[in-house]
Amino acid sequence: MLRTHNCGELRSSNIGQEVTLCGWVDKSRDHGGTIFLDLRDRYGKTQVVVNPDCGEAALRTAKELRGEDVVRIHGVVESRLEGKDNSKLPTGEIELRANRVELLNRCKTPPFFPGQEELPSEDLRLKFRYIDLRRETMRGTLVKRSEIIKSMRDYFADNGFIDIETPILGRSTPEGARDYLVPSRVHWGHFFALPQSPQLYKQILMVAGFDRYVQVARCFRDEDLRADRQPEFTQLDLEMSFVDADDVMGMIDGLMAKLAQEFLGIELQLPLPRLTYDEAMQRYGTDAPDLRFGMEIVDCSDLAAQTEFRVFRGAVDQGGFVRGIKVEQRAADFSRKRIDELTEFVKNDFGAKGLAWFRVEPDGKLWSPISKNIEEPVLQGLAEKFETQPGDLLLLLADSWDVTCKGLNGLRKTLGAELGLYDPKQMHFSWVVEFPMFEKDEDRWVAMHHPFTAPRTQDLPLLESNPSAARAQAYDLVINGYEAGGGTVRIHDQLTQSKVFELLSITPEVAKDRFGFLLDGLQYGAPPHGGIALGIDRIVMLFTGLDNIRDCIAFPKTQRAMDLMTQAPGTVEDKQLHELHIQVETPPAK
Ligand code: AMO
Ligand code: AMP
Repeated sequence: MLRTHNCGELRSSNIGQEVTLCGWVDKSRDHGGTIFLDLRDRYGKTQVVVNPDCGEAALRTAKELRGEDVVRIHGVVESRLEGKDNSKLPTGEIELRANRVELLNRCKTPPFFPGQEELPSEDLRLKFRYIDLRRETMRGTLVKRSEIIKSMRDYFADNGFIDIETPILGRSTPEGARDYLVPSRVHWGHFFALPQSPQLYKQILMVAGFDRYVQVARCFRDEDLRADRQPEFTQLDLEMSFVDADDVMGMIDGLMAKLAQEFLGIELQLPLPRLTYDEAMQRYGTDAPDLRFGMEIVDCSDLAAQTEFRVFRGAVDQGGFVRGIKVEQRAADFSRKRIDELTEFVKNDFGAKGLAWFRVEPDGKLWSPISKNIEEPVLQGLAEKFETQPGDLLLLLADSWDVTCKGLNGLRKTLGAELGLYDPKQMHFSWVVEFPMFEKDEDRWVAMHHPFTAPRTQDLPLLESNPSAARAQAYDLVINGYEAGGGTVRIHDQLTQSKVFELLSITPEVAKDRFGFLLDGLQYGAPPHGGIALGIDRIVMLFTGLDNIRDCIAFPKTQRAMDLMTQAPGTVEDKQLHELHIQVETPPAK
């Protein structure tokens, strides 16, 4: 080895030893002929001193060192001078007095330095990712990620799960996003699809009798990207046989308790709290509510039906709703300008038609520019319904169910953060359960999870009579308002499966073509089974207190699904296209 120790290792107990360190020059300072170097590697930093006593050659080389040069230093570990200890560094009690300084590799002037205070633009960080990954926070996150994944693997190994890899080149899977396709050279006009998840394979593994499967699986989805979505991401994917929804949730409860204890130092109360989908939508307007604070939605459609005020009454008459949230005791913080901004926010981001607001006056009366249009008993009814106190602010939307949900969820999340209604370090884990089986996409039914999701047993008759009321044996793990995982109990009998396909307008021919192997498999002795997949990138993001999964992935893609370092995707040679029987259309003129 080129070194005897790493840069985070030396302590007072090493004083007097001769050692050799290798690393990057984090900082160098010239103090009147004595050079102080901070030498950095993955493990930490060590201060190196080079002065005239160290020999002319060492001093000459040290003087020429610049930030990010790679060096090897041989010397003696010494105690730092009285009062010069650095209690912030684990190696802060010692320094290395060099007697040999070797430049292993010169670094070109980098576009930014890992130690600099101000972060460069994200594009620059992604392009020069090797420099960005030298930053302490990036390194820390990737180390934490590795530890979290190890802890997950240990947990499942301890619980009798078998880790099995599934193919990357396969058929299209049913998660509902657009596929990434890979053309086949051998089979003209045929394509592999990269897996959106190992969903079908893991069900087949249950048919094969593996009973408990787990995998850290890479998934690919060509969809619109956001701060918590990447085209390529990692799932902790698992499936179990002879279980019901409670068993799967119980297994994940145990995992979360372990991770929370190891990585956050908190004891989770198990079982984790559960909320039904309907409750979540009513109280928070989303199926992934942030439960670290209240500000629950209040439905005042019944009062709205009693007023002549056109905006409220009109919404209810058209089958819509009037719902709102209460900002407790902070009305004074909301200027007209801020309310106008919030109005624009709900209009632009959620298609709301407007935002109605009321301030609660010292006498308890509701005041608003629109209050003169609303009858006194209705105003009083609103005050009672929201249980208002002087100083409160009410924000109301009159719209479709969907718009009131999305708009109020948006307001609630924005205001919760803005008003500091929770401690950002706090973590809240919960389950949302009993999702609808189906949702309407334009005129047709689509599966809310995927077409293999089992309905609740008591809802089987609803598949015939009222599909929209049928609830699935589905469960999402929600952490701080993020969907951290999702899974279902699967259909394992042919009859229910055919019925569901029929509702989803998946003809037997299409079903046979797309998932024939699974449907066949299900007829060869499929045990009752269910599973879940957790988003590892999101879990790492939440456990490290970040708000973007790109910072939890070594080489992520941009919002425009590009890798700025490798410049992927790139063009290929005509010969390659020819071999794949592909012709590329000329892009339309910009
Ligand atoms: P689902 O589609 O809900 O379920 O995915 C499971 C979890 O994966 C994470 N996730 C993502 N993370 C980053 N970027 C993305 N584009 C992305 N999409 C999803 C989320 C999500 O909760 N096969 C089923 C699981 C099952 O039924 O067992 C599935 O993939 O945290
Ligand atoms: P208008 O008469 O359309 O200007 O609306 C009167 C007030 O009601 C304005 O303050 C609007 O912001 C508000 N408003 C209009 N439409 C809605 C709606 N759908 N929901 C809540 N408030 C609304």
